[in-house]
Amino acid sequence: MRRKLAAGNWKMNGTTASLVEIEKLLETHPDPACEMLICPPATLIAQVAWRCRAKHLKIGGQDCHWNTSGAHTGDISAPMLADAGATYVILGHSERRTDHGETDAMVLAKTEAVWAAGLVAVVCVGETERQRDLGATLPVIGGQLDTSLPAGGTADTLVVAYEPVWAIGTGRTPTLAEIAEVHDYIRATLVARFGDEGTGVRILYGGSVKPSNAVEIFAVSNVDGALVGGASLKATDFGAIIDALSAA
Ligand code: 13P
Repeated sequence: MRRKLAAGNWKMNGTTASLVEIEKLLETHPDPACEMLICPPATLIAQVAWRCRAKHLKIGGQDCHWNTSGAHTGDISAPMLADAGATYVILGHSERRTDHGETDAMVLAKTEAVWAAGLVAVVCVGETERQRDLGATLPVIGGQLDTSLPAGGTADTLVVAYEPVWAIGTGRTPTLAEIAEVHDYIRATLVARFGDEGTGVRILYGGSVKPSNAVEIFAVSNVDGALVGGASLKATDFGAIIDALSAA
């Protein structure tokens, strides 16, 4: 059985004033049936992790460097994230691929660094609108999985997030059949690559998930949770998504 995961990616949003949303979430969801994860900006990780110590809300980073330390101004390493209290790290988000030119090879190196630090990697894949229009969605996703994931992925160390680039922050989502097609394909690819462990790797859907569409998305085959952007910033919205996942 795969434990469902509701993950919030705060992106470049949030200051200490936003900690009140974490407090609300902990109050309203003391014992959720799914796993809850928030990936705040790096400036808040240590504070949020301290507040959540021994609680059921996990904390993650949004990126890391592939080296453990050194002359990389502005970067953060996986051991640093672990030291701050993170247990997950999002890698290869399309915004990093676009804004920072991240390649699959970099994502692979970062994933290895995350595993070496004892953290769980949430590796993002997804097609652009043009690639979908060209009918290239599955080959694109397959290529990203082949070259972004190192050998040795396990159910405990790897989560894959399918985030169609054109659905991020746009209010648009693929049809349920399109989500099922991609998630089933990702599952088959993970099983072919990692055997039994591939069966246990959780596959999240991300891209304009909100309380109003969460129930139907969570009913789709091989959707084990969501990676939520905008709707994770408010405890009421993220809480409703958590409730939908818990009931799925
Ligand atoms: P939105 O939920 O705001 O579309 O963002 C999705 C996302 O990119 C999560 O990583």
